[in-house]
Amino acid sequence: MKFFPVLLLVACALLASASTPTKTVKRTDSSQFVSTSGSKFMVNGSEFAWIGTNAYWLQALNTEQDIINTLSNISALGITVVRTWAFNDVTAIPEDNGTWFQLIANGTTTINNGTNGLQKLDMIVKHAEAFGIYIIMTLTNNWNPLPTDNLTSSIASLQSSIESRATVETFNSTRPRNFLSNDYGGMDVYVRQFGLKTHDEFYTNQTLIDAFTNYTTQIVTRYVNSPSVLAWELANDPRCNSSVTASPGCVPQNITEWHSIVAKNISAIDKNHLVSSGAQGFMCTDCPKLFPLKPTAPAQPSARAAVDRRTVAKPITKARIIQERNEQWKKNRALLPKSEEAGVRVRGRWVSTPTRRQSDSTSQDVGSAFDGSQGVDSQDILGIPEIGFGSFQLFPDQNSYGLDDPSLPAFNNTLQNGLNWITTQGQLATLANKPVSLVGFGLVTQANAPSFVPFNSTIAPFANVSTTATKSSTSSNTTASTANSTTQSFGVTDSQQATAYSSWLNAGISSGVSGLVQYQWSQGNLTAAANTTISTSTNDDTTGESSNQNTTGESPNDGYSIQGVGEDTVQSILQGAVQSVG
Ligand SMILES: *[C@@H]1O[C@H](CO)[C@@H](O)[C@H](O)[C@H]1NC(C)=O
Ligand SMILES: *[C@@H]1O[C@H](CO)[C@@H](O)[C@H](O)[C@H]1NC(C)=O
Ligand SMILES: *[C@@H]1O[C@H](CO)[C@@H](O)[C@H](O)[C@H]1NC(C)=O
Ligand SMILES: *[C@@H]1O[C@H](CO)[C@@H](O)[C@H](O)[C@H]1NC(C)=O
Ligand SMILES: *[C@@H]1O[C@H](CO)[C@@H](O)[C@H](O)[C@H]1NC(C)=O
Ligand SMILES: *[C@@H]1O[C@H](CO)[C@@H](O)[C@H](O)[C@H]1NC(C)=O
Ligand SMILES: *[C@@H]1O[C@H](CO)[C@@H](O)[C@H](O)[C@H]1NC(C)=O
Ligand SMILES: *[C@@H]1O[C@H](CO)[C@@H](O)[C@H](O)[C@H]1NC(C)=O
Ligand SMILES: *[C@@H]1O[C@H](CO)[C@@H](O)[C@H](O)[C@H]1NC(C)=O
Ligand SMILES: *[C@@H]1O[C@H](CO)[C@@H](O)[C@H](O)[C@H]1NC(C)=O
Ligand SMILES: *[C@@H]1O[C@H](CO)[C@@H](O)[C@H](O)[C@H]1NC(C)=O
Ligand SMILES: *[C@@H]1O[C@H](CO)[C@@H](O)[C@H](O)[C@H]1NC(C)=O
Repeated sequence: MKFFPVLLLVACALLASASTPTKTVKRTDSSQFVSTSGSKFMVNGSEFAWIGTNAYWLQALNTEQDIINTLSNISALGITVVRTWAFNDVTAIPEDNGTWFQLIANGTTTINNGTNGLQKLDMIVKHAEAFGIYIIMTLTNNWNPLPTDNLTSSIASLQSSIESRATVETFNSTRPRNFLSNDYGGMDVYVRQFGLKTHDEFYTNQTLIDAFTNYTTQIVTRYVNSPSVLAWELANDPRCNSSVTASPGCVPQNITEWHSIVAKNISAIDKNHLVSSGAQGFMCTDCPKLFPLKPTAPAQPSARAAVDRRTVAKPITKARIIQERNEQWKKNRALLPKSEEAGVRVRGRWVSTPTRRQSDSTSQDVGSAFDGSQGVDSQDILGIPEIGFGSFQLFPDQNSYGLDDPSLPAFNNTLQNGLNWITTQGQLATLANKPVSLVGFGLVTQANAPSFVPFNSTIAPFANVSTTATKSSTSSNTTASTANSTTQSFGVTDSQQATAYSSWLNAGISSGVSGLVQYQWSQGNLTAAANTTISTSTNDDTTGESSNQNTTGESPNDGYSIQGVGEDTVQSILQGAVQSVG
């Protein structure tokens, strides 16, 4: 929060210079449905700049009062947007009466409109409206890993990433259903249950497009007149691949084409709500475009004007990314103390020499966020007429958003690449003349590392690392345990997380990103029940027997929850952001 006052001034200055053209737009439309005007959101006749949070698990809470309490606490911070899952696909009806929305089995689909079905979603919409909260409804997920998928490569990469310090276990069957965000079904359920083989057939096979359209039509029709729905988000993190592999022929254009088809279908039955992608924001700068963006105004050659170059909309090209990176790395080097210029110690190893640096700075590699290798092109998707606003995400523990500057320590790279990512997406908004929103961002802290499960996995790769660390620190002080306890653990410190969250929110606000959604909300004092998503606290219970009579529980932690340590800090950072957009 302490970062806001200074940066806020910068933000105001930038906003003033950047938004002059759109501010002159007189809106006669005072609709209660969220709409857009240029790169801003509008509602009830005014600009709507918002801060949000993710709570994919709202539908899995055990009581209506829990939904009310959660939305009430979110609202108390001034947060006005909640992104949540509006899907829950099962392949057999759960015997425990748990929440499910759609049965997808053996090539047929059935929707559950009962009390443990869509009526749960009705409750969320109803109470959101009462709290003045807008809901982003996500309609499916790219990720739904199962133990039967071929996870060989993902397990191998997880192992190497922690230098084999942790034993990677198999599928964690002790975790309740709907605990992880990737445990609500999604694209791969359709692929498997319709007898297909590759992930991207979800986007291209007509039968699957029809099945998904059948689902979205039911959901969209149900809430077509609800002003508290902010937007339909087609999918979380859509891309060619998943834990079910992609076919070799899948290219970003196939994902773009799917967006166009589904967005058209939804817009045809719902004139009230915006449609967005839910993609991570990855681009393919060199890919041909199905929906080229038409720049709204030609770039002015008045470089003399003291306009920040970030506010000028320029196409996002490979040459530009490389040029801006080289400038930034040069600046970083100039800031280094003389003694560190010859090389930088990162995590106890010399990783950089002047020679190495030179070759890095002449690299023509734009990195996986821009080269199309993520199998999606958000720039192309944003050009689709029925896509009302763009989306992107920021999860540096799981994806790369730019090459690391060899002059900088790991955390500084994480911070800087995140800032660049946000700024670039803000430019895309200006370029496309549509809003762009950060629909999920998070950094795993050291305290949260044992709970961290990557989105494409069911395994907590660092679960055992902490167990080892705890054991060695509480047992005898042997040489071995000293060595192990000094090994750097996964994740950032709480204070680094706070720095990153404040800086990223500020960067989003100042670079014209109209909507910033933290991942994810934490809620305590929820009604717990055995074998449900909200299980009783496990703190003092090592046997697994339910000896404690605790009837309250906490919302799921997939490594990004803020419960306990850090909660107050993150909440006050969000509150600060609310005040600066308000
Ligand atoms: C599920 O609901 C049915 C009907 O309400 C009830 O008979 C059954 O006991 C419930 N099962 C569980 C596991 O709660
Ligand atoms: C799907 O088919 C399999 C094999 O024929 C069968 O065992 C299963 O019960 C079917 N599932 C549903 C939900 O009909
Ligand atoms: C659920 O859907 C069925 C079939 O469309 C319909 O007959 C029934 O009235 C619906 N029930 C509720 C509670 O909406
Ligand atoms: C699983 O994936 C690995 C690595 O991608 C591959 O070598 C192996 O052949 C695959 N196994 C199966 C059964 O598909
Ligand atoms: C699409 O999926 C359906 C349903 O499984 C299948 O019958 C059909 O052959 C697939 N179409 C193509 C072109 O692969
Ligand atoms: C979609 O719904 C239509 C109409 O209810 C139905 O005929 C069709 O079989 C459904 N398609 C799929 C793939 O479920
Ligand atoms: C994927 O996109 C490419 C390029 O537009 C196209 O040639 C190909 O047919 C598409 N694949 C499918 C399965 O639609
Ligand atoms: C899962 O994501 C990690 C990066 O976070 C990657 O290394 C791994 O290959 C991915 N696995 C699959 C199956 O996509
Ligand atoms: C890295 O970041 C920290 C904290 O944000 C800062 O104090 C330090 O100067 C930075 N180091 C470099 C080399 O930029
Ligand atoms: C399995 O899940 C439980 C409950 O979420 C968790 O406590 C445990 O650490 C997990 N184990 C692994 C290996 O991920
Ligand atoms: C273990 O190490 C800690 C910290 O270095 C020290 O305070 C403590 O006295 C040591 N315990 C034993 C039994 O040597
Ligand atoms: C320290 O780590 C090594 C290698 O991972 C392991 O073999 C050893 O048992 C660990 N020692 C302790 C005390 O945990």
